[in-house]
Amino acid sequence: MDVFDVIQKRFSVRSYQDKPVEQEKLNIILEAAQSAPTACNLQSFKIIVAKTEGRRELLKKIYHQNWFADAPYVIGVCAIKDKCWVRKDSKSYADVDAAIVMDHIILAATALGLGTCWIGAFDPIAFKEAFEIEEGMEPIVLTPLGYPSEDFIRRKRKPLDELVIYK
Ligand SMILES: Cc1cc2nc3c(=O)[nH]c(=O)nc-3n(C[C@H](O)[C@H](O)[C@H](O)COP(=O)(O)O)c2cc1C
Repeated sequence: MDVFDVIQKRFSVRSYQDKPVEQEKLNIILEAAQSAPTACNLQSFKIIVAKTEGRRELLKKIYHQNWFADAPYVIGVCAIKDKCWVRKDSKSYADVDAAIVMDHIILAATALGLGTCWIGAFDPIAFKEAFEIEEGMEPIVLTPLGYPSEDFIRRKRKPLDELVIYK
């Protein structure tokens, strides 16, 4: 699959098989995350890789949907807030860095036949408590990681002429 195929094949997977993810695939995904660009190359993030086995109740407190705990892993990207680059006008790039890291994870997973789903609507306090995330680290985005048990769904996008402004 070339990069354009991967981009087109990615979709939010909300149903997972009860099938383990190979450690080799997980390693490739984490190396893709490591290659993500960050502002000033500060790399002020941590990736939490959590096994879901035996943690269904705990995970339900973090995100309410049942399918969230069905995949073998939940991955979270946390920003180390006070170590991220801040623009002159005080705009922090912490969220931007974390989003790029997660996008690398998600696209790498897709290329390996795995499913993911961006989760923004989770409870960050429950996540921090569950995984003893230290002070100063802010969980930005989560995803389950596992083999999909649903077929590709292409969700509608606005036409390009609504999204692009040529100047
Ligand atoms: C920043 C962000 C946060 C999201 N949060 C959630 C979420 O909490 N729960 C969920 O089921 N999907 C979530 N999504 C997935 C979007 O609903 C999904 O990407 C969008 O509907 C397009 O569908 P597709 O990913 O299948 O192309 C999120 C996506 C993004 C980019």
